[in-house]
Amino acid sequence: MLRTHTCGELDRKAIGKKVILSGWVNAKRTHGGIIFIDLRDRYGITQLVFDSSAAKAAYVVAEQAEREFVLQAKGDVRARGKGLENKERSTGQIEVSVQTCTILASSDALPVEMTDETTAFEDTRLKYRYLDLRRKPMQENILRRHAIVRAVRSYLDALGFVDVETPVLARSTPEGARDYLVPSRIHPGKFFALPQSPQIFKQLLMVSGFDRYYQIVKCFRDEDLRADRQPEFTQIDIELSFVEEEDIYTIMEGMMQKLWKDVLDVQVKIPFRRIPYREAMSSYGSDKPDLRFGLELHDVSSLVQRSDFKVFKGTVDNGGKVYAINAKGCAGFSRKEIEKLEEVAKIYDAKGLAYMPNKDGFEGGISKFIGEDVQKALIKELDVKKGDLLLFVGDAKHHLAQVALGQVRLALAKKLKLAKEGDWKFAWITEFPLFEYDEDEKRHISVHHPFTAPYDDDLEYLETDPGKIRSRAYDLTLNGVELGGGSIRINKKELQQKMFTAMGISDKEAKQKFGFLLEAFRYGAPPHGGIAFGLDRIVALMSGEESIREVIAFPKNKACVSLMDDAPNVVDDRQLEELHIKKK
Ligand code: AMO
Ligand code: AMP
Repeated sequence: MLRTHTCGELDRKAIGKKVILSGWVNAKRTHGGIIFIDLRDRYGITQLVFDSSAAKAAYVVAEQAEREFVLQAKGDVRARGKGLENKERSTGQIEVSVQTCTILASSDALPVEMTDETTAFEDTRLKYRYLDLRRKPMQENILRRHAIVRAVRSYLDALGFVDVETPVLARSTPEGARDYLVPSRIHPGKFFALPQSPQIFKQLLMVSGFDRYYQIVKCFRDEDLRADRQPEFTQIDIELSFVEEEDIYTIMEGMMQKLWKDVLDVQVKIPFRRIPYREAMSSYGSDKPDLRFGLELHDVSSLVQRSDFKVFKGTVDNGGKVYAINAKGCAGFSRKEIEKLEEVAKIYDAKGLAYMPNKDGFEGGISKFIGEDVQKALIKELDVKKGDLLLFVGDAKHHLAQVALGQVRLALAKKLKLAKEGDWKFAWITEFPLFEYDEDEKRHISVHHPFTAPYDDDLEYLETDPGKIRSRAYDLTLNGVELGGGSIRINKKELQQKMFTAMGISDKEAKQKFGFLLEAFRYGAPPHGGIAFGLDRIVALMSGEESIREVIAFPKNKACVSLMDDAPNVVDDRQLEELHIKKK
């Protein structure tokens, strides 16, 4: 037997027991004839004591043991001396007096530190990921991920959801990112695509009658990477038949409630707030607003139009918009601090960031161009008090002005530390536009995917103004992050056809790409809808991590490389030949 207990298990109740422990050497101290070794496994740390006068052979083995050696120790559990207890550890009341000890494996000096806090470069951590994963914060993240997956499965299982696997070698899917392709050896010149999501398959499962489907599934998208994006990531993918938006909101709110209760012991309030897309954009400049703080955007176009500030007057006269936020208590910001915020606005293509501090009345910035009556109106609209600072972005493009000021809002909140940890502000974003106009392709494309249902009431705009049609799509957001998104789908062939037409997708193209789905819809497709959550993002948020790389065991780095196994990499010419591929 290699162990009788784990290194996190023994306490006062075990005093007097003979035990066998196995684990890694976390730390070692020598005090004249006595060696203390902290033996570690994923459950905890237990102190081993080696006494040269009591068990010489074991003591000699302990002398040879270095950090991260794997040891097996047999001995007796005994109480620690008075005042020597460690209150931080569950095993802190006891120690194991070792009689025999074996080195199960030695270890070279480590390329990364085993400390909780690390100063190692991320690339070094990723190269030695198996060691990085030995660190306690990483172990906690991976275990939390497991707990989340377990809670999701138990919740969905209790509600009758069926876990169905869908193909990884499939056809190109319609999520809109670039595909990863897999060449076929058997069919020269043909390719599988790795799924960007199981979207089409889960809709087909609805046609098959599996009215409640779920899958915790890898998805693949060849996108530019960010802190919250990986080329392969995991979705909690869900689809239901005979449902409307409200059914989906209720079930998913229940799932989030269970996750937060089971994993963090936090009671989140439901129902979640619902914010139509247009309102999210005009109040927060984002379709995933961070609602932990105010700083809302205000449309002040009609007010500043009456001012002498030519930039804003001109913008509004020409159909543009001007938005403002009230940075409470920030009238004392230095020129430099404001320039920093202006830089943020400019990253998002704003032409500038106008400002008006209210010290004892407005002075400085653009104040001198804003007459008294407009100042009064601004004070009322934005509830301005002495010491506040107004910040403005105006632009001919409404969306641009909103987004740029929305980003200033986030930067300001970060600077002022307005977001509190442990504050969970969920919201459904609803009523997204169905189409967006693609300037390059000169046609409307779907914001989500082409199977998203429109609001029936808006169908009258199909020929005249497709940009005005709202979709029955929804996103779930949390603290400024898009956790998931989905929609009620189109289940009628005729409507689907109309949508393809509106997007300039020809019958031929539709048939070629989605023919099998359209065909399936001829045989009794029930009304259905669904959603998919980014599991990695949920785990990262619940773990207080900025990057999803911290909650994925073996992620790619920012340059889309797995440094540990050095993938992607070259392959044999023979393999390429078999696949009918020539290198360029
Ligand atoms: P969508 O494309 O919005 O919807 O994806 C759903 C959720 O998956 C997560 N996600 C990602 N996470 C990490 N890295 C990525 N590269 C990445 N891309 C997306 C996000 C996102 O909200 N089939 C539809 C869902 C549906 O309509 O049912 C879909 O895939 O958290
Ligand atoms: P200017 O008159 O161009 O020197 O601009 C005066 C102030 O207005 C500067 O603080 C600019 O950053 C700001 N500004 C200029 N254009 C805009 C705009 N479109 N939106 C917001 N602020 C602007």
